[in-house]
Amino acid sequence: MGAGIAVRNNSLGEEVVRRITELGGISEDADTLTRVYLSKELRTAADLILGWMRSAGMHAHLDAVGNVCGRYEGERPGLPCLMLGSHYDTVRDAGKWDGPLGVITAISCVAELNRRGRRLPFAIEVVGFADEEGVRFASTLLGSRAVAGTFDESVLATRDRDGVSMRDALVQFGLDPDHIGAAARMRRELLAYLELHIEQGPVLEAQNLPVGVVTAIAGATRLAARLTGIAGHAGTVPMALRRDALSGAAECITAIEQFCRTDTNGLVGTVGYLHAKPGATNVIPGQVSFTIDIRAPTDAHRKRAVADIVRQIEAIAKRRDLSLQLDVTHENRTAPCAPWLKEQIAHAIAAEGFSVFELPSGAGHDGMAMIDIADVGMIFVRCRGGISHNPAEHVELADADAGARVLLRVIENFRPRES
Ligand code: GLV
Ligand code: MN
Ligand code: MN
Repeated sequence: MGAGIAVRNNSLGEEVVRRITELGGISEDADTLTRVYLSKELRTAADLILGWMRSAGMHAHLDAVGNVCGRYEGERPGLPCLMLGSHYDTVRDAGKWDGPLGVITAISCVAELNRRGRRLPFAIEVVGFADEEGVRFASTLLGSRAVAGTFDESVLATRDRDGVSMRDALVQFGLDPDHIGAAARMRRELLAYLELHIEQGPVLEAQNLPVGVVTAIAGATRLAARLTGIAGHAGTVPMALRRDALSGAAECITAIEQFCRTDTNGLVGTVGYLHAKPGATNVIPGQVSFTIDIRAPTDAHRKRAVADIVRQIEAIAKRRDLSLQLDVTHENRTAPCAPWLKEQIAHAIAAEGFSVFELPSGAGHDGMAMIDIADVGMIFVRCRGGISHNPAEHVELADADAGARVLLRVIENFRPRES
């Protein structure tokens, strides 16, 4: 991978890869990379990124929800900005590229402009969003929703696995939960929102291309399910008389997998978390909680699929005499990328000597929230084997450099949408 693409000494890519490795070392666990929203390690990471922003010539601060924000003024102070961003939180046992690549590459591009003493007819802002993954609390895109002014204050009451509420976690992080509104930005302050991100799939690799133009970010629905039966003695209760919540959950999971596998239009469904109580070898499980994540290329298809899956789960619970609580914890519609931004990205890719290739994003991104206040464009960078949300996630230096060069070119040639 990356074969045939030249990398200069002291390239942007080299700086990006060095910083990716440094940031990837900040983790809640010694052996794996995990950095969830409002953790102590997220704060350490924020300080490191703020330092990089300042040394790139930006004014930088932590906003009211924990996002790191840097601003590089244009030809005169106070101009509307081209906003560049991605997230700096991670999933559990993560790879180090998902999110940080976009934040770090954007900072390196600004640093390059600063080195050349170049000011543009617009400001550049770089945002590292504090929560895109939604791993800790039951809602995703918390950082970008706060910036877009769509943060739902009811999530402040949600609790993490250890029972800590988001409200308390914000206070521990040094933020005021009653002032999250201060992170919101106005549409007139932004000329566009642009994000560079690893592809997290195998398509660019199959095309033998380092970068691609994203057409749209697929919508997603997430649900939290809880099945309750009766805990009991594993030796005494005959099989026919059991109300085993874990066996019920297993049937639900298989039904979801089967339903999505038989779909021929790109439907995907995942149960990524399951917790059985009381959790002992010789006790019939009385209660099981699990999550469901459903995505499809169109919103109509996803909504139909969610309704079908809910019907199937309800039928399984009824037949097994389990009580069911099912809540939608997150719903995002598909976010199309703006044609005028796709065009500017395509020009930059062609100017760097690569074929222009368009592809949709099956993964969620901060652009899904930012689309409420700005047109959105995205650049994908190839990753090895299409592997992501996995410590084996990897981007070749040559591809990181190609992504950085494309982003820098987009910034330098950026023309705001004609009104
Ligand atoms: C974010 O990575 C998502 O698509 O879940
Ligand atoms: Mn991501
Ligand atoms: Mn992710």
